[in-house]
Amino acid sequence: MSSLAVNFLGIPMASPLIGASGTVGFGLELAKFIDMKEIGAISGKGLAPTPWKGNNGTRIAETTSGMLNCIGLENPGAPYFLEHYLPEVKKLGCPYIANMVGKSVEEYAECAKLLSVPGISALEVNISCPNVKVGGAAFGTDPEQAAAVTRAVKDATDLPVIVKLSPNVTDVVTIAKAVEAAGADAISLINTLLGIAIDTRTRTPILGNVTGGLSGPAIKPVALRMVWQVAKAVNIPVCGLGGVMTGEDVVEFMMAGAKTVQVGTANLADPTAMARIVRELDAWCDKNGVKDINEIVGTLKA
Ligand SMILES: Cc1cc2nc3c(=O)[nH]c(=O)nc-3n(C[C@H](O)[C@H](O)[C@H](O)COP(=O)(O)O)c2cc1C
Repeated sequence: MSSLAVNFLGIPMASPLIGASGTVGFGLELAKFIDMKEIGAISGKGLAPTPWKGNNGTRIAETTSGMLNCIGLENPGAPYFLEHYLPEVKKLGCPYIANMVGKSVEEYAECAKLLSVPGISALEVNISCPNVKVGGAAFGTDPEQAAAVTRAVKDATDLPVIVKLSPNVTDVVTIAKAVEAAGADAISLINTLLGIAIDTRTRTPILGNVTGGLSGPAIKPVALRMVWQVAKAVNIPVCGLGGVMTGEDVVEFMMAGAKTVQVGTANLADPTAMARIVRELDAWCDKNGVKDINEIVGTLKA
């Protein structure tokens, strides 16, 4: 038996696997399908200081080896989460990371303040959602704005702050360095890639928002490339995600430099996916003589 345990930002985790925001709710449904003690953590659905309605019309479309979504960050708001979900979330059996969004720097800071309570182990700041008109990716595509949000959140909390980056930029390293300089404790990447799907019969976009975010196996090579570039360029830990479906995918992300790895769309296809991926990761370690999973981080010979 190999050890899959990792320590991420001072948080002890049973394995490097984290459920990705937007694909695991607040973890409560997932707990009906898998043993939460086996996974590293959950990153819950993105929360704003007030409830958000999300986008109208069709919000999901299947694509080749992936899916598009334009949910638009629908969420009940941080105060509602704290009152109605957190008491149950505390019993999940794994650390909980609160993913958060805002429409202004001030809203991000307000949300960070609200969510800095016992039961929440870290904040993940989403500056990379492509599906909202205000906020989201607007902050993640400009280094100065990305730094401003990071600084404001850091000033508002004592929790470790993970900043989640967008792949919809020309140079992800510039943004990564900006958030590191602004005090980010870690970086997660990637969020979804902007895309569209078309109904040729009606000549209309399939998604109500026209554009949506592409996720799933189709984006894995792009995600790996960006994780590799960023991990080489910064001195803070990196959490990799994008298209992870198997234990070997996790190994690839860790070799590229990720200390932890998130699983997103795979959960939507199969709610037991993360339990299987933990078993596959364990089997890969046994087969390859790896006693401690941390040994493989950043070992890509390139
Ligand atoms: C339906 C759906 C909802 C999502 N909601 C959020 C969200 O609220 N906050 C966030 O940071 N990322 C959100 N994401 C992005 C995922 O966390 C992840 O970055 C992306 O899907 C790539 O990983 P994957 O290919 O493993 O799904 C969402 C993704 C999907 C598919």
